[in-house]
Amino acid sequence: MQTAEIQRRWLNFFGDRGHTVVPSASLVTDDPTLLFTVAGMVPFIPYFTGVVPAPFPRATSVQKCIRTLDIEEVGKTTRHGTFFQMNGNFSFGDYFKEGAISYAWELLTTAESDGGLGFEERDLWVTVYEDDDEAIELWKRIAGLPEERIQRLGKSDNYWHTGQPGPGGPCSEIYFDRGPQYGADGGPAVDDSRYLEIWNLVFMQYLLKEVRSKTDFDIAGELPKKNIDTGMGMERVAFLKQGVDNMYEIDQVRPVLDMAAELSGRRYGAQHDDDVRMRVIADHVRSSLMLMTDGVAPSNEGRGYILRRLLRRVVRAMRLLGVDAPSFAELFDASRLAMRDAYPEVDAEYERTSRLALGEEETFLRTLASGTTILDVAVEDTKKAGGDKLSGDTAFLLHDTFGFPIDLTLEVAEEAGLSVDRSAFDALMSEQRARAKADAKSKKAGLADLSVYSELRALGETVFTGYDYLETESRILGLIKDGVSVTAARAGETVEVILAETALYAESGGQAADKGSIVGDGFELEVLDVQRPVKGLVSHTVRVRSGEVGVGRPATSVVDREYRHSAAQAHSATHLIHAALRQTLGQDAHQSGSFNKAGYMRLDFSWNQALSHETRSEIEEIANNAVRDNLEVVTRILPLDEARKAGAMALFGEKYGDTVRMVDIGGPWSRELCAGTHVRTSAEVGLVNLVSESSVGSANRRVEALVGLDAFRDLAAERAIVSQLTSSLKTPREQLPDRIADLVSQLKAAEKKIAAFEASKLQGRVPELAQAAKRVGDVLAVIEDLGELASVDELRKLVTAVRERLQAEAAVVALAARVEGKPSVIVATTAGARDAGVKAGPLAKGAAAVLGGGGGGKDDMAQGGGSDASALPAALESVRSALLG
Ligand code: SER
Repeated sequence: MQTAEIQRRWLNFFGDRGHTVVPSASLVTDDPTLLFTVAGMVPFIPYFTGVVPAPFPRATSVQKCIRTLDIEEVGKTTRHGTFFQMNGNFSFGDYFKEGAISYAWELLTTAESDGGLGFEERDLWVTVYEDDDEAIELWKRIAGLPEERIQRLGKSDNYWHTGQPGPGGPCSEIYFDRGPQYGADGGPAVDDSRYLEIWNLVFMQYLLKEVRSKTDFDIAGELPKKNIDTGMGMERVAFLKQGVDNMYEIDQVRPVLDMAAELSGRRYGAQHDDDVRMRVIADHVRSSLMLMTDGVAPSNEGRGYILRRLLRRVVRAMRLLGVDAPSFAELFDASRLAMRDAYPEVDAEYERTSRLALGEEETFLRTLASGTTILDVAVEDTKKAGGDKLSGDTAFLLHDTFGFPIDLTLEVAEEAGLSVDRSAFDALMSEQRARAKADAKSKKAGLADLSVYSELRALGETVFTGYDYLETESRILGLIKDGVSVTAARAGETVEVILAETALYAESGGQAADKGSIVGDGFELEVLDVQRPVKGLVSHTVRVRSGEVGVGRPATSVVDREYRHSAAQAHSATHLIHAALRQTLGQDAHQSGSFNKAGYMRLDFSWNQALSHETRSEIEEIANNAVRDNLEVVTRILPLDEARKAGAMALFGEKYGDTVRMVDIGGPWSRELCAGTHVRTSAEVGLVNLVSESSVGSANRRVEALVGLDAFRDLAAERAIVSQLTSSLKTPREQLPDRIADLVSQLKAAEKKIAAFEASKLQGRVPELAQAAKRVGDVLAVIEDLGELASVDELRKLVTAVRERLQAEAAVVALAARVEGKPSVIVATTAGARDAGVKAGPLAKGAAAVLGGGGGGKDDMAQGGGSDASALPAALESVRSALLG
């Protein structure tokens, strides 16, 4: 049975039983606590928690999911995939345990010829949460399962939540027995490889807060209703139904695996390590394709980083299969063909996604090449120094900066006969992880407990009136202080305010929150921040400037007019720069992030080289021409499909069937989906001044611009500097660069002259020093402190020159000096002195020891230094006494 057929049967079965068929949501969630859609239930979370009333009592879906926690397990087991599809049926306070168990049993055991999935009853086992007697009774009664095929397991197996505060509950899982050749008897409690979990029925009835781990969490209370969330692993059922050994060999994945085999000339099934590599490739290529299709682009943080990691692991696995040449073109095309029936968008977006994949492959292959050079040098240095272990620092640097996987470092080191200081590397890695975790925690802390918002959200969506008005009269629906609902707040307090309607823009889509105030009879609130903590709810963080504010009071939100105008200028300028970038660089310049606030904008985009001065000017000029052309800005609300057809550049996270807001500047000249606030015509932007262009991680660039009055002020400041220069250098503006270049080269020439003069002055001392040679022990010796010198090099030249003069004698020259306050001693010997057994090395070393440092060198010339300049006379004395023997 093909995967598409399983999907069809699933949706028909539940569709026929009153479930609304909901298309898969994007892999990119709009839930702030989750990076990706990790389960079929994710798009329905607000319905489970009651934050948003469910639009239907029951629903079914086949949901695209990504989970990357087990990334290291991919390919090694039969069942870990980073991308997978979860078939779900959901009840929002409609049917509960009995309904869920009946439906699952019916679909699984109905014969294939009757539209079911055709599993044999005798192959199925179930587990239930330890004290769930009710579920045990239901399984016995509905499915006729004997007691011994129902097992009780604890929280780690039979309790489900997303890992974040939110809905959760005990669950019951259905397993398929693959037979004794796959492991021991005794059911899923004994062996979860032989007994494969295929379907999880979650009895969603609690709201969790503080989720510390899978088994350690606090329950905040019961959900408003008892719900059902189930998830069947479509890949698992597919591999059982297709009679293959694992999920990498099903119809939607196998073609990629075969392509990897073909490109490498190795056979799948011949050698375990190679098999694992091919499975990793098959899995990761598909996951990457699906992620890019949903708008994720490779980058160095968040979702983009996970995608980058997947792509790089593919390159790595191909190399281990012996393929060094680019191979993404073939691998991604194979995946596209295997996925396009189920997901037509894979085809529609392929031009863009394949460009991203190929670009990343090219960059990473280059990275590997430069990382290899660094690694080679490190290997050579380690060997030269007589070591047999590459330092953990080097391995970490390669990993952190060059994206060089540790196993590659291990492999290259091993080829060179070295090991790697693995424990130092691991320590650095865990430090980094701890930092990342602390970072994530501090970010999440802001979200705290969402339940207080949920209650307020249940009163309705906050209406944003700010596209049309800068003031709106409304009512205070709620006040929150330190995460708890309060009824009133007084002057000096900082609280969050929820209004029924607001004219204030909440930070989103890269646009900063509005500034402004909320005022009412007898109170005035200064707005510090505006956010949307849960979908559809706007929260204003305010400081009560005067009076007392209470829930239920009328209140007017007032936007700071000037701030808003500058913010709108900046946001429209962001669109102008984006359009200009794509006109100049082509469609490959894919936006990967943006931020704008009054007077300022920045835009990140995928591009793998610095922009030249000419390109920067061109982009700036295109944007400013658009300003001059006074293009009309038109916003429209329309279905997503229509906006896509019109060629709008999409944002992340929209679902098919959603309505979106499309912002045109000059018709199709710039067309983006965007919820931000904009000016009415491009001329209002005033001026765009591109002030910087820089790198933000590999293959990602950032342009920054000042907008409107801020752009002008910056240019005016530059003009002031230029006019200062013209008057102090007495040079007209156009000649300034030449004049400054002249001055710099004159300065350099003068410095050279001074250096030459100093050197000849020093050389002038050579005869006098040579003459001062006195007999010390068996040799003639010059032992002098020269005071301050400009460099150790000068000292060395002097020592050499004095020795030259005494060449015919058995002589030792030991001169000392301070360079930038630090003491140095250089000792040189002539051949005669060496014949008499006097060596420079030990003399320098002895002197250095007196200076509190170290030194050494050859027999004819050696150097020592230290930190204690006051010990220089004593150091020279030590040379003298050494010669006296
Ligand atoms: N949410 C549950 C799971 O992911 C059931 O759909 O297993």
